[in-house]
Formats: sequence, structure tokens, C-alpha cells
Amino acid sequence: MRVVSGIQPTGNLHLGNYLGAIRNWVRMQDETDEDGQCLFFLADLHAISMPHEPAELCRATLEMAAALVACGIDPDRSVLFNQAQVPAHPELQWLLNGTARIGWLNRMTQFKDKSGKNREGASAALFTYPVLQAADVLLYQATHVPVGEDQKQHLELARDIAQKFNNDFASEDAPVFTLPEPISPPQAARIMSLRDGSKKMSKSDPSEMSRIDLADDPDTVLKKIKKAKTDPEPLPSEVEGLAQRPEALNLVTIYAALSESTVEDVLRDHGGAGFGAFKPALAELLVETLRPISTRFNALLDDREALDAILARGAARAREIAAPTLASAYSALGL
Ligand code: ADP
Ligand code: NA
Repeated sequence: MRVVSGIQPTGNLHLGNYLGAIRNWVRMQDETDEDGQCLFFLADLHAISMPHEPAELCRATLEMAAALVACGIDPDRSVLFNQAQVPAHPELQWLLNGTARIGWLNRMTQFKDKSGKNREGASAALFTYPVLQAADVLLYQATHVPVGEDQKQHLELARDIAQKFNNDFASEDAPVFTLPEPISPPQAARIMSLRDGSKKMSKSDPSEMSRIDLADDPDTVLKKIKKAKTDPEPLPSEVEGLAQRPEALNLVTIYAALSESTVEDVLRDHGGAGFGAFKPALAELLVETLRPISTRFNALLDDREALDAILARGAARAREIAAPTLASAYSALGL
């Protein structure tokens, strides 16, 4: 079994990113029992398919790497690297461009969504991005790829490319590529703004009080939870009682996600409590969870050399795993 997954580099990481995305990777790593079974990469090459600011991309990539390590991705067990440091990704993409059909790419709904009305003005990279995604996983003989609903079509394409390449250029008993199976990531919590329960917690929200940042110290966490918008009613003991109370539901959801329990469990324990009592309990749980993460996160961001070393080591391991497959692909094509 080999799991390969990429994440877009984003900066200003917050509790929503942790509970909704990063924690799933840590779980995947912890569920596999052999070193090197999970490859996690920062999709910095994908990021240039859209307009971007170079300094910002560089900062976001480092921040995401630091957050992953701080949250529990162990660079000794998982292979953690930047896509841009493994040239085999764009190399294999070029080889696969010979197999991918224009008609297949024309059917990709994400290109239509992301290019919008300005199709002619979109980058060529945005159009061929799914071929790079195919290279990302085929390069490592991935057997399993975690995909959300929006990525199912791209994984299907990766399988089609692998199958056509094997058919056209390899013998049946020695295929060049493994066809990867999709796996559904565990259902992740959706965390809402602390100031408005109808909006998701986001780095683009201008109010800093609307989110808990991974870099926040305990006093800041306490202050933000204390000021979080709520209503005067005590917590109900049943979920139905939260139906029209998005801010209350959000705080209970955060509590449940942090304590690895369900909203029902939290209400069973805290039903009847007012926010004067529930907020300090939530803040305590948050501080307990985030203290080690933010300490490690800030330390890594302050020690660029250590972070660079982690990523360089990951890239070296990735290049090593990729080499035989890349060589077979060249050779199969007569190159
Ligand atoms: P933002 O909305 O702050 O710009 P991104 O779009 O960069 O966050 O998201 C990065 C990852 O974090 C994605 O996998 C996304 O699903 C997850 N994520 C972002 N915000 C939340 C949230 N409020 N709740 C749950 N998951 C989230
Ligand atoms: Na976003």
C-alpha cells in the first residue's frame, strides 16, 4: 500500500485548516504501519497555474510545511517534500502529455470552473494541471489516493492515462504504472467564523477575532473565545436545540472535533451550561491542543535552516522512490 497526497500551500493557517485538512493527513500517517508508505507534498508547482505572487507562494509553502510537522507529520515516517524540488514531477508530466488526449482534458469541470468566462486567457498550466496531478501519483506507484468530491474526476483521468500508457507502451506482464484507487478522506469538521456563524473560518476574513490562528498564544486564544459571538440561551441537551443557533453550534462542533467526540456527546456532558461556563472549558481544551502545535510551528518558522533540511531530506527520498518509474517511462517511450 502506498498513499500519495498533495496539499496547496496556504499561509496564515488557522483552526479550520487544522481540523478540516491537516489533521486528516496526520491520521492517514498514523493509520499506516510502515515508514515511507505515505508521501505528502506541497503542491507548489500547481500553484503557478493561477495568478500568484512569488514571495507569497514561497512564504505559504514554508508555513504549510512547518504546520504539517508541528501538527504531527513525522518526517522520519512520512515523506514530506515540495513538488518543485522533485523535477521528476514535471518531467513525467511531459511524458504523460503524449498519452493524455485533448478531449479528456476538455471534459475536466475544474478547468471550466477555474478559467470561468476567460477561457482563452487562462494559463496552459491550468489546462494541463490534471496531467501533472496524474504524474504526482503515478510517479510513486501510488495504490491509494485520498480524494474529495471535487478531485474524483482528476483521479479517474490519472487512471485513464496510466491504462493507455501501459497498453500502448508496456507489455501486459510488466506495466509501467499502477492504477491508483481513490479513498475518501474521513469526514472533516467545517469550522465557522467566531464572529458570524454563517461564514466559514477563513484567512481572508478581515477580522482577526473571527479565527483562531495556529500561531496564537494561549492568552490570544482565551481572548478570542471569550469574545466569540454567542446567544444568551444555555446549551441544549439535544442537537435539535442548536438548529437556529449557528454560533452556538460552531463552538460545540469545535469542542467535539478537539475532543475526538461528537456534538451529541458534548451536549450530553454540557447541556444546560451557559456560555459563561462552556467558553472557559472550550478555551482550555483549545489551549491544551494548540500549545504544543503553536510552539513547534513558531520554532520551525524561526529556524529556516531546520525546515529547509526537513524538506531537502523529504525531496531526496521522493527522488529516490521516483527514479525507477521515471526511468521505465522514458525507456518504454524509446527515449
Ligand atoms: P482559507 O479559506 O482560509 O483560504 P484554504 O482555502 O487555503 O483556507 O484551505 C486550505 C485547506 O483547509 C482546505 O483543505 C480547506 O478545505 C481547509 N479549510 C479551510 N477553511 C476551513 C474551515 N473553516 N473549516 C474546515 N476546513 C477548512
Ligand atoms: Na480559500
